[in-house]
Amino acid sequence: MPLSNAQMRDVQSVLHPYTNLVKFRETGPMIIERGQGVRVYDEHGKDYIEAMAGLWCTALGWGDNELAETAAEQMRKLAFGHLFGGKSHEPAIALAEKLKEVAPFPVGKVFFANSGSEANDTQVKLYWYAANARGETRKKKILSRTKAYHGVTLASASLTGLVNNHRSFDLPFDFARFAECPHYYHAAEPGETELQFSARMGANLDALIEKEGPDTIAAMIAEPVMGAGGVIVPPDGYFDQVVRVLAKHGIPMIADEVITGFGRTGNWFGATTYGFEPESMSIAKALSSAYLPISAVLLSPELSEIVEQESGKIGTFGHGFTYSGHPVSAAVALKTIEIYQRRDLVGHVRHVAPAFQKRLRALSDHPLVGEAVGVGLIGAIELVADKATKKNFEPAKQVGATFGNFAQDEGLIVRPLLGDRIALCPPLVISEAEIAELFDRLERALAKALDWAIREKLIAV
Ligand SMILES: Cc1ncc(COP(=O)(O)O)c(C=O)c1O
Repeated sequence: MPLSNAQMRDVQSVLHPYTNLVKFRETGPMIIERGQGVRVYDEHGKDYIEAMAGLWCTALGWGDNELAETAAEQMRKLAFGHLFGGKSHEPAIALAEKLKEVAPFPVGKVFFANSGSEANDTQVKLYWYAANARGETRKKKILSRTKAYHGVTLASASLTGLVNNHRSFDLPFDFARFAECPHYYHAAEPGETELQFSARMGANLDALIEKEGPDTIAAMIAEPVMGAGGVIVPPDGYFDQVVRVLAKHGIPMIADEVITGFGRTGNWFGATTYGFEPESMSIAKALSSAYLPISAVLLSPELSEIVEQESGKIGTFGHGFTYSGHPVSAAVALKTIEIYQRRDLVGHVRHVAPAFQKRLRALSDHPLVGEAVGVGLIGAIELVADKATKKNFEPAKQVGATFGNFAQDEGLIVRPLLGDRIALCPPLVISEAEIAELFDRLERALAKALDWAIREKLIAV
């Protein structure tokens, strides 16, 4: 199909994130015009089930009038207000209070930012600030993990463990250190149980900390479920091991709950699902159901206190964004959480997740699918060239991206990730009937992808 007028205008003017910008000149973008519930509609009126909730974020789906009204009302009342130099406003105060109430660990203070990346950059700066306040000036390294995704600003991209976030950007900066990605499917040794694998991950983390020197490590950051790195669900006992090793060395944990926060895994937070208590937490995305940009860092009382003390010594806490706690974003986030509570969205996730997980896991019988895993309403399938050996396709064959196109033909938006992993992370409001339709469309796309892979001689039959 020739490019539409809107597609051509886009190609002329928009620099797209996460896109092969050369190829894109020929293909142009898919232009989404509107959305309602779990569906979005393109410029030709075709409907798609948005099985990624946009970018793992639109938890309440599209077209929620209550959020639209809240934003309009707040815009009329106080369109902008900031938190610098002692100013404040009710939406930021009420949201901070609400976050302290729902957080899964004791929270002293809440710092607001606009994106997950900014929240994670803030985390790094807070731990450095606190280390300097305590006179522990060597304690500056932050542990992350291979395949972690923590964002794209300079510090958060340094903590992201994906090569394309580093290549040609002169990253990562030297403070980042990487433990292994706990991907049992690929990294387990023959015959190793999940618990044994997790124990080995724990021992290797311990060895890494010993090698670096525990007194040089300020914190470890982790997503409860690794998202953009491939939806890697932690194996049994994994976080027990991480907690044990970090406690041994007195290293605090930063939970990056940018994807897992607000019900995604069947609890309000992933830290609860996996049984650990962080020292601080980053949240974004579902915080406002992505209706407006807002993120936050929740700090333990002790971390809050030391940051406050240091600012007193210096004369100011020299960090903050113009839009930190923007009143319209804050009002919408507060309303979003109210809706989660009123509609018992976490209860809804628990109710529909078994149907989602059952259809997802059944896909592992398909000839193209190596792994099919998930928790709550997040999951992934991995398309492999050989199920017996778990051999991946050559990246140049673009199998995941091709599958993504077949899915789009079938009216389904998924997200192909590195290693031909296909992520699913639908709006949390999805019904059982919509889950069934999602997987019916996905199965039709898989059938097309299989025919294509056979024709292209990518798999033997
Ligand atoms: C776990 C995690 N942390 C941080 C980020 C970065 O968030 P943002 O894109 O809002 O900067 C993301 C984005 O997908 C994420 O998944």
